[in-house]
Amino acid sequence: MTTPPSALAHQRSIYLAGVAGKRPPVPLDADGLERAAEKRLSAEAFAYIAGGAGAGRTVAANRRDFDRWRIVPRMLNDVSEADLSVRLFGMDLPAPLFLAPLGVMELAHRDSDLAVGRAAAGHGVPLILSNQASRPMEEVAKAMGDAPRWFQLYWSREEELVKSLVARAEACGCSAIVVTLDTKMLGWRVRDLDLAYLPFLRGKGIAQYTSDPVFQRLVEEMPADPDAPRPRVNFNSLSTLWQMLTAHPGSPLDNLKSGRAQKAVKLFTGIYTNPTLNWEHIARLRGYTSLPILLKGVLHPEEAARAVDEGVDGLIVSNHGGRQVDGAISTIAALPAIAGAVKGRIPLILDSGVRSGADMIKALALGASAVAIGRPYAYGLALAGEEGVSEVIRALLSDFELNLRLAGGTRPSDIDASWLVPAP
Ligand SMILES: Cc1cc2nc3c(=O)[nH]c(=O)nc-3n(C[C@H](O)[C@H](O)[C@H](O)COP(=O)(O)O)c2cc1C
Repeated sequence: MTTPPSALAHQRSIYLAGVAGKRPPVPLDADGLERAAEKRLSAEAFAYIAGGAGAGRTVAANRRDFDRWRIVPRMLNDVSEADLSVRLFGMDLPAPLFLAPLGVMELAHRDSDLAVGRAAAGHGVPLILSNQASRPMEEVAKAMGDAPRWFQLYWSREEELVKSLVARAEACGCSAIVVTLDTKMLGWRVRDLDLAYLPFLRGKGIAQYTSDPVFQRLVEEMPADPDAPRPRVNFNSLSTLWQMLTAHPGSPLDNLKSGRAQKAVKLFTGIYTNPTLNWEHIARLRGYTSLPILLKGVLHPEEAARAVDEGVDGLIVSNHGGRQVDGAISTIAALPAIAGAVKGRIPLILDSGVRSGADMIKALALGASAVAIGRPYAYGLALAGEEGVSEVIRALLSDFELNLRLAGGTRPSDIDASWLVPAP
């Protein structure tokens, strides 16, 4: 129970700091936050984080479709106290909020996943550790202490690697495995293609692999390839090589001599996605772990219903922030049919386009148990490291709390379909 309400205290502290001429460290407005991060980041980093697939129609729809619903506030309820906490997957959480898995956060800040992990832990908001993180999961877990965390898995072509990643996640205190389904291959990401920039080719975002014993063994076993095409030697190719050598564990000179860093990137590009991924893999995963299993990227109600039948423990209704299928249905539009198919048998978490407390209310009213955010916390990270991520979380929770109370509720469980009407 928050007494006095934390959102009001937060709001007051911002206005009081303003009396002394101090502005918040990161903009509170979602578009302002993105614009501020754009100024801070390199063109390549910003394109990678902000970009979507194709013409960006799904990125836009993820935001726009929240406006297809309006909240209908109730006035004569006592809202003097609020309690945002929820119990989900055996965890007591401060609010129905998760941090979605984001790869390659070294593009935003050198402290990358460590800063994100500390900020999440500071709020008790669970972080879903990315398969494409910039730091090994064990390091981030250590930085998070006992705070809640899950691990997000990309199903590799190397099944032994899948088993190893899952075992490591269990060992470092991740309490669920999230299998991302929507990235059997990379989407057609025009902004990255225009810049001819893919961070993985520079050895970025592959720390879960280079820290993995199975992956390391596979690298050692790789034969030398004398016929491999050699890029022209110029400033850019040398800079790329340097990035690769420094991103890899160990000294850059040793990495150059052994060829290990280049081999790791090559192996990674060959095995990191698995286009054959299907229900049999999910059934096999049951044999690899006793942790709850969630599927991320389900958008079709038939697949949602099947997931329940297959014994999956939860779904993340996601279109990867519009980065995979251009023209795909927005998640807020997909949610009602998925909730209808699942019928409350397993929890649903919604991500893609969540930017405000109002968005959270709409997602919960349409059947989600919680939401997750992606880009906003990457922008907070870019602007102010751990503090920036923390501020983004705090602002969203304050916005959620105030909107909830002003609309006549005091706890997330008060929110239901009667809170919304379709926009005129
Ligand atoms: C820069 C970036 C990296 C991402 N990396 C991953 C990843 O490694 N694994 C994954 O499952 N999803 C990844 N996603 C998708 C997010 O988990 C999430 O679905 C999406 O960002 C939510 O949309 P939002 O950014 O509009 O909040 C990534 C998204 C972005 C923007």
